[in-house]
Amino acid sequence: MTTAIPYTNANLHIGHAYENILADFLARYYRQQGNKVIFQTGTDDHGLKNYKSAKEEGISTKKFVDKNAKNVEAVFKSISSSHDQFVRTVDSKKHWPGVQKLWKAISKDLYKKKYTAKYCVGCERFLLDKEITKGCCEIHPGKKLETISEENYFFKLSKYKNKLITLIKTDKYKIQPKAAKNEILSFLRGKVRDVSFSREKSRLPWGIPVPGDNNQVIYVWADALPNYITGIGYGSNSAKFKKWWPAQFHIVGKDISRFHAIYWPAMLLSAGLATPKELLVHGFINDEKGRKMSKSIGNVIDPFDQINTYDLDTVRYYFLRSIPSNQDGNYSETDLIDRHNAELVNTLGNLLSRSLNLIEKSGGRVPKGKYDVTLKKEYNQALKKLNESIVNFDFHHGVAAVWKYISKVNQYVDKTKPWTLDGKKKEKVLYNLAESLRLISALTYPIIPNASEEIAKQLGIKKVPLIKSDTIKVGTKINKGKHLFSKI
Ligand code: MSP
Repeated sequence: MTTAIPYTNANLHIGHAYENILADFLARYYRQQGNKVIFQTGTDDHGLKNYKSAKEEGISTKKFVDKNAKNVEAVFKSISSSHDQFVRTVDSKKHWPGVQKLWKAISKDLYKKKYTAKYCVGCERFLLDKEITKGCCEIHPGKKLETISEENYFFKLSKYKNKLITLIKTDKYKIQPKAAKNEILSFLRGKVRDVSFSREKSRLPWGIPVPGDNNQVIYVWADALPNYITGIGYGSNSAKFKKWWPAQFHIVGKDISRFHAIYWPAMLLSAGLATPKELLVHGFINDEKGRKMSKSIGNVIDPFDQINTYDLDTVRYYFLRSIPSNQDGNYSETDLIDRHNAELVNTLGNLLSRSLNLIEKSGGRVPKGKYDVTLKKEYNQALKKLNESIVNFDFHHGVAAVWKYISKVNQYVDKTKPWTLDGKKKEKVLYNLAESLRLISALTYPIIPNASEEIAKQLGIKKVPLIKSDTIKVGTKINKGKHLFSKI
C-alpha cells in the first residue's frame, strides 16, 4: 500500500499529514490482522514546481529538495507513520533505472509532437480551455498559468480508453468512493486525449533524462507515478517486485485521482504489468471556515503545531474519527478538544483507570473467568463494523464502532457495580474488564497506537495483541500506571 509522494517545494501542512494518518491506520489494521504489509511513502522531487521554488530561494535545486524532504520525513515520523519504505525520486540508484525501464517498456505508445498549451505549475499539468477559469485552474485560483510551447513525447492515452473503462467499471481496479469512480468514468467516456510525457531539457533541466534523447527529461508525473513500482524493486530487484506487485491500495487526495485512475493504469497496461487493486480517494482538510489551506490566506495548519500542542493520539483520533475519510472536512480545534475530553479522557481513559483500580484492590492479578456473552457480542459487532469501514473506505464509521464498544464496557461497569460485589461474582466482572481492555488494546492500535500500547503494558501483557488472538491469561499481573490522557 502506498500514499501519494508530496512535492518537496515547501513544508508539509496538516492535509499531507492527514493522508499518512489514513494510510497508517490501514497499514496497522492489516498488520493487526496478522498480514504482512509493505507501506510505502516518499517524496516527489522533480518537476517545474520544485525547480522554480528552489530558484526563488536562491539555492541549488538538489539542496532545496533535500532540505524539504527532511521536513517530509520529520512530519511523517511525528505522526508515528509506520511506513516501511521512503522513496525519493531523486534517487538515481533505485528510482531512475526503474523509471527509464518503464519508459522503454511503453515506448511503442510514445511519439513526438509540437505542442502549445497552458500549464499549471501547481498541478504540474496541462489544461484544456474548458478547465480554465479567470486564467487559472480550479485548484490554484490566483496562480497564473504558463504557456508552454515545445516539442515533447506524447503518450497514447487515447488507445487505452476502453480498457480503462472496463477495468474501472468492473472494479478490477476499484475506485472508492463511488463519486470518485463515477467522475473518472464520465471523464473516460468523453474525449480522451494523448498526454505530453516529457519536457525540453533546455527549459527544465531538473528531471530524469529520457532514454536515448539528451534533449528531453521525463514529465514529472511519468517519473513520480512509477515510484510505486521502483520502490519495491522494478528495475533493481525483480524478486522483490514479483513478490509485492500489484499494490493492494493507493491512497491519494481528490485533486490527483485522475493521474492515479487513468494515467497510471494506462502506463502499466502499456508496459504489460498488472494494475493496482484499489484506489482510495480521500477528501481535503480545509480550515475552520471551509477554505482551502493556502499560504496566501495564511490559514495553513502546521502538523508540528498540532503534535506539540496535543497528544499525538489526540490528533490521530480526531482526524480518523471526525473527518469522513471519503469526503472533505473542516478542521475544528473545538471539536478536537471536545472529543479529546469526552471520548479519550472520559470514555477510554476512565475505563482503564477504574478497571485497573478494581483489579489492583483485589490482589492485582487477572482472575479466572469466561468472557461475558453480551460483551462478546458487542465486541464482534465493533470488529465487524471496523472491517466494513476498511472495505467501504469510511474509516470514521469503524472508529465510531470501536468507541461504541468501549462505551458498552463502561456501561457494564456501571451496571454490575463491582465495588459492591465480592467472591466469585466480583472475579467474574474483573475478568470481563481485563479481557475487554485486552480487546480494546487490539482494536485501538491502528487509531491511537501509543495509548493502545500503554493499555497493553498496564494490563501486564507485553505486546498489543493481534485481533485474532485468544484470551487474557489468568493470573496476569497488572501494572497500573499513569492516566492515558489528561483533560484539556
Ligand atoms: N507530488 C504529487 C503526488 C505524486 S504521487 C505519484 C502531489 N503532491 S502534493 O504535495 O501536492 O500532495 C500530496 C498529497 O497530499 C496528495 O494526495 C494531495 O491530495 C494531498 N493533499 C494536499 N493538500 C491536502 C489537503 N488540504 N487535505 C488533504 N489532503 C491534501 O500531488
